[in-house]
Amino acid sequence: MNMKRPVRKAVIPVAGNGTRFLPATKAMPKEMLTIVDRPVVQYAVDEAMQAGIENIIFVTSRNKTAIEDYFDSAPELIATLTRSGKTVQVTQLEKMLPLAGTVSYTRQQVPLGLGHAVWCARELVGDEPFALLLPDMVSYGRKGCMAGLMELYEEVGGNVFAVEECAPEETSSYGVIGVGRSVNHGLEVTGMVEKPKPEDAPSNYYLNGRYILQPEIFDLLASQERGAGNEIQLTDSMQKLLNVQPFHAHPYTGRTFDCGSKRGFIEANVAFAMLRSDMGEDIYNSVKDLLDMHEKTRVKAA
Ligand code: UTP
Repeated sequence: MNMKRPVRKAVIPVAGNGTRFLPATKAMPKEMLTIVDRPVVQYAVDEAMQAGIENIIFVTSRNKTAIEDYFDSAPELIATLTRSGKTVQVTQLEKMLPLAGTVSYTRQQVPLGLGHAVWCARELVGDEPFALLLPDMVSYGRKGCMAGLMELYEEVGGNVFAVEECAPEETSSYGVIGVGRSVNHGLEVTGMVEKPKPEDAPSNYYLNGRYILQPEIFDLLASQERGAGNEIQLTDSMQKLLNVQPFHAHPYTGRTFDCGSKRGFIEANVAFAMLRSDMGEDIYNSVKDLLDMHEKTRVKAA
């Protein structure tokens, strides 16, 4: 079996309920919440495209049609903007429109968990390796996380994913791996477990939401029983695949914001805004002012 076949397709699951962001997510997908002025999901699509991905497969659900509309053309809006001479915005909207036929959608009818969402993409992926990006994990670094992962895949093949180190007490929020020796630019993976208690965690390397997987994962997902949180967990099927195929981890040197949590989402907004040439300095000064104000209020209250 050739375990280094090219990776052309990326799966982006967007079918979750986003309960941590209620009430906002009662009427809008959490993947459409914005970091500065772009929806969270746009960051994942850009990262995939930069890594050379040609086709995006969204696993979507009811109440998520805003995502399909977002990646479609908007002729009335373009006409209105053109009439008002807003050429910068027209160019921006046209540039972000994916090439026709390169984006597909399939539905997960019931949000049974990430493993089930990935399984729902099996017919669109077919018998080839694929990338998987969790859109609420937003990566921030000089180089896109998926591009670095692709480089490791080209070296070692098989299954690869990106990891970062978390504080030991945070392991119960993530999939965590056991690590072996270093291989090329990666680490050999010896095991993985979803949301372990700190005392049971094999390390503090957590999966940051970027994967390249071989298609054999689909057969394992098909019969995967529910695991942590009573959901069908991708990590549990990857652990089974590890018995027959190699897995390597790419330690990502940037930083990932967990935008599925309020704290990560707010941090991402501040961090990305400070990077922007059109507003970075203003936001930096605003943050300093807010910190001063907060400090004074705290001192007064004490
Ligand atoms: P999360 O577990 O962070 O998303 O899944 P969630 O379930 O929507 O969030 P909470 O916990 O209720 O707040 C990571 C990604 O996987 C997708 C989500 O949409 C998110 O992009 N997902 C999750 C699915 O597509 N289907 C599922 O059944 C679960």
